[in-house]
Amino acid sequence: MRIGHVQLAAPFCQAGLAGYSDRAMRLVARRRGCPYAVTEALLDTIMLRGGVGLRRSIDINDEDHPIAGQIIGSEPPQMAEAAKILADRGYDVIDLNFACPVKKIRNKARGGHMLRDVPRAMEILQAVRDALRPEVPTTLSVRRAFDDSPGAAEAFERITDAAWALGYAAIRVHARTVEQKYVGASRWEFLRTFKQRYPARTVLGSGDVFTAEDAVRMLRETGVDVVWIARGAIGNPWIFRHAADLLAGRAISPPTIHEQRQALREHFAIAREIHGEQGAGRRMRKLGMRYARFHPMEGQVKSDFIAVRSARDWAAVLDRWYAADGPGVWPAANAADEVNDTPADCEAAA
Ligand SMILES: Cc1cc2nc3c(=O)[nH]c(=O)nc-3n(C[C@H](O)[C@H](O)[C@H](O)COP(=O)(O)O)c2cc1C
Repeated sequence: MRIGHVQLAAPFCQAGLAGYSDRAMRLVARRRGCPYAVTEALLDTIMLRGGVGLRRSIDINDEDHPIAGQIIGSEPPQMAEAAKILADRGYDVIDLNFACPVKKIRNKARGGHMLRDVPRAMEILQAVRDALRPEVPTTLSVRRAFDDSPGAAEAFERITDAAWALGYAAIRVHARTVEQKYVGASRWEFLRTFKQRYPARTVLGSGDVFTAEDAVRMLRETGVDVVWIARGAIGNPWIFRHAADLLAGRAISPPTIHEQRQALREHFAIAREIHGEQGAGRRMRKLGMRYARFHPMEGQVKSDFIAVRSARDWAAVLDRWYAADGPGVWPAANAADEVNDTPADCEAAA
């Protein structure tokens, strides 16, 4: 699996997830086998303004590679400038977001809007490619079309064909339409057809990957090169190793209570470094609930995480529920519904 010159150790990647996939989530996942990660969508204009917005947008360290910096925006020159900033700051790959379905974003001609604005999409693809040194790989994130009309299917083809022709190293397809948002299934047959059309290209598949089993099934059923793990990775940094194990025919077991505690501690410590005490507290409340799915006393652990207001409360939950080691459990089969968190935004809050 390659994205340009970037070699991936396994065919999985941690998705861009606004409000989640910060450096904390990425590092916790990398330490548990995640071979490649993508930032949340970074708004070009915020980066171009410099100052605190730029400082918050750029957040990687030596451990956080290979990484794609994902850009969202609407004007070709600004997207190009933002791409240069990320490449200069050491992001290994530049990914363009033509996928975000949030109306507020689309109304501003960003994200999924591009799938119904072919000229603008083409200009951005070209401008970004022209702005970067040839050795910096660029990739494109799209949905399978804007909607189910024939015109939208044609627009998808024109845009993806243009990306390949310009030398984009990979395309990530979320097999729902923009109009579909998160309702209904991701159409995996579409991924299979798309990959069959471009056997020599790198295709990332996305949509409805909630477990390690789903990730392996997507590889086998669709033939995509890399599985983009999104909601399935929230509160489950083990999913990458589990998927690699399943792929190799090895049995998997849920993380033990102490393995869970270790991941929670690391996640909180890095989140605090990035977002400060309060910001980390807010993030970790929702993440704690996701992690709690692996705990045999899930219901009570979740309620305790919801009540967390400070680092002290956080430590108290860990002391109460994670001090004694023991086996973890697999999340209940309906856990997919619980991670059905539809984003209010696709951009990192700057
Ligand atoms: C809370 C949330 C935030 C998201 N933020 C981004 C983002 O910043 N960039 C992006 O490319 N996709 C984003 N997505 C889309 C996911 O990366 C993924 O494509 C989508 O959730 C489908 O995969 P899944 O059904 O396996 O979760 C987001 C999705 C969710 C639920």
